[in-house]
Amino acid sequence: MRRAQIKNRRATNNRDEALHTAVVGLQWGDEGKGKIVDLLTADHDVIVRYNGGANAGHTMVVGDQRYAVHLIPAGILYPDKVCVIGNGVVVDPQKLIEEIEALRGRGVEVGDNLRVSDRAHVVMPYHKEHDAALENVLSKAVSGSEKSVDLSIGTTRRGIGPAYADKVQRSTAIRMGELLDGERLRAKLRVICAIRQRELEALGVQAAPLNADALASQHAAIGRRLAGHITDTVYLLHDYLEQDRRILFEGANACLLDIDHGTYPYVTSSNCSTLGIPAGTGVPGTHIHRVLGIMKAYSTRVGAGPFPTEQVNAIGDRIRERGHEYGTTTGRPRRCGWLDLVAVRYSAMVCGATGLACMLLDVLSGIDELKICTQYRLPDGSVTDRFIPDAVRLGEVQPIYTTLPGWSEEIDEATDRTALPANARRYLERIEQIVGIPVEIVSVGPERTQTLLEV
Ligand code: IMP
Repeated sequence: MRRAQIKNRRATNNRDEALHTAVVGLQWGDEGKGKIVDLLTADHDVIVRYNGGANAGHTMVVGDQRYAVHLIPAGILYPDKVCVIGNGVVVDPQKLIEEIEALRGRGVEVGDNLRVSDRAHVVMPYHKEHDAALENVLSKAVSGSEKSVDLSIGTTRRGIGPAYADKVQRSTAIRMGELLDGERLRAKLRVICAIRQRELEALGVQAAPLNADALASQHAAIGRRLAGHITDTVYLLHDYLEQDRRILFEGANACLLDIDHGTYPYVTSSNCSTLGIPAGTGVPGTHIHRVLGIMKAYSTRVGAGPFPTEQVNAIGDRIRERGHEYGTTTGRPRRCGWLDLVAVRYSAMVCGATGLACMLLDVLSGIDELKICTQYRLPDGSVTDRFIPDAVRLGEVQPIYTTLPGWSEEIDEATDRTALPANARRYLERIEQIVGIPVEIVSVGPERTQTLLEV
């Protein structure tokens, strides 16, 4: 897209009606969404999570303090904002309590400012067991037979897939609101646990039998502790819309992990793209005029699945070490590679991104030549600039790169975009040209202050 068109898109972003903003990852997660949500929270009244669960991890650095949250929206650090966990989220309630306590322990206020949908689904302990057991069975299926394939996903083992599976299955699911009715919970868990027990045994789990009554008591107690937070968040959000309060929608995971639009089956189990917002919050998409797509200046991926620009070499290692590319949730080393703009452009299209935030640009300092993937070569020799959201076919493409000169200077002290080395500015301009939308934010370090805003 030409520069003039980019300018038009920027003008649209500034429309007065752009009250509400969505923040979404455009790669395979870990793009630094937490930092941007934290930054944008100042301009919004309500921060809403719409998908995923404790598989996500957002880290915010304020001064010398580092905060990591998995379920609670990153906006919780502002006492005057309301944080909402929407109905599209799967909540591990024990983890939620731990997160609340950890924040309170550090002086962060968590009370009426945290609202949890009564329709959000509960991640139960047996979901986590099931997740891990299934992954083990799937990864071991390969050994001893040439024909078998490793079908494991490399999940975070947080029970995300099994909890969403129960949601779709319906009768064996438990929603947050149900934690408030101890008697019904007990009756329901007696049936569910009998089924789960057999399933876990079939997956080779030898653990002690599931104790439905103990689980019910434990979760009724959890329900009592969380009761003040659990509510109908759909009406709550519509009340806020009526009051013209500004809402920030915070996506967890990222577009290429979206259950429908990502690199299936190597995806998570929710709609992490902005398409998940209406279903995951009850707020129609027509309310959202500003979508900020978050991307790193390079690519990373955790777990299995195709990654055309992956660098299993010194460049990949360098990016991992400089970028501290180890999972916030699981500590796993992330796979690292060159920036794939075929993928980013696709995600920006699916998410309706109106602007980009380019994160971790400082990590690329000191690399002589930088590569950006702009097209894929298919096995038949043809070339495409379209992403292929199918794991097998994407695994067969060869990336076609444009090479750009790097910059040697450290940029972590830059205070605006014009202060960046010329080659760093060119790198950003190339991203804008290829993706067709402006880079509105550039991040050159973890601190709030190391954020360059395009005004
Ligand atoms: P699950 O969400 O635990 O089922 O994992 C499914 C896939 O998504 C795995 O490859 C995970 O590594 C990946 N995944 C899930 N959440 C995130 C995230 O927040 N960042 C990066 N990868 C994620």
